[in-house]
Amino acid sequence: MELDQAVLGRRSIRAFLPDAIPRDKIQKIVELARWAPSWGNTQPWEIVVADGEKTRSLAKEFVDAATKGATPRSDILMPVEFPELHKKRYIGLGRDLLTFLGIARDDAEGRRQHYLNMYTFFGASAVVYLVIDGRLNEPYSCLDLGSIGTTICYAAVQEGLGTIYLAAAMHYPNIVKKVLDIPEDKKVVIGIAMGVPHPDAPASLFRSNREPVDNILRFA
Ligand SMILES: Cc1cc2nc3c(=O)[nH]c(=O)nc-3n(C[C@H](O)[C@H](O)[C@H](O)COP(=O)(O)O)c2cc1C
Repeated sequence: MELDQAVLGRRSIRAFLPDAIPRDKIQKIVELARWAPSWGNTQPWEIVVADGEKTRSLAKEFVDAATKGATPRSDILMPVEFPELHKKRYIGLGRDLLTFLGIARDDAEGRRQHYLNMYTFFGASAVVYLVIDGRLNEPYSCLDLGSIGTTICYAAVQEGLGTIYLAAAMHYPNIVKKVLDIPEDKKVVIGIAMGVPHPDAPASLFRSNREPVDNILRFA
């Protein structure tokens, strides 16, 4: 597969088929992605994959926690405030996505269900968790995790699989650590849901937009 096919072929998938992914496929994806760059070649990533029954247990516990109103408590700092420009893009994404999904602004139940769907990883059969040693310097390690995480997403395209980075998948790190047997002193940084994209559900067909290159590129 050509690089541009992998880059342009990737988009966040929000509806998956229940089909299991063979573990050797995930192994192959990580085999390739581990060549991603990292600071001083520290390779701070530890990759823990939930699949099969583990994914179902995670989803059940996440939905239970969210339904009971448990406050998300991520292991890493989450963005709260955005400068106006970024806020506009963030709000624009939510508006475009919900419109595409046919969820009206005043459809509180539809919105609630959409947010709960994040906690079931949109039906993905696997979640690839990126974990770091709790003693590592967080912002820098997160750069490294972004590096391998996105490479995982491109490698998945090459294997015919879909992915979505999910902050929601690390809202309750205590549950992730318990179900996946991750020691308390590690930090669960992000989860990437992975699976077979639903062929025709709107949530797997939505495409976000991008700024024109002139708005983000400047030769000094
Ligand atoms: C770190 C990170 C966390 C994300 N968390 C979520 C999430 O919790 N829920 C969700 O629907 N999308 C999530 N996304 C997906 C973004 O919304 C998506 O990448 C962005 O809108 C661009 O769209 P694209 O990935 O389809 O190109 C996340 C993306 C990143 C990089």
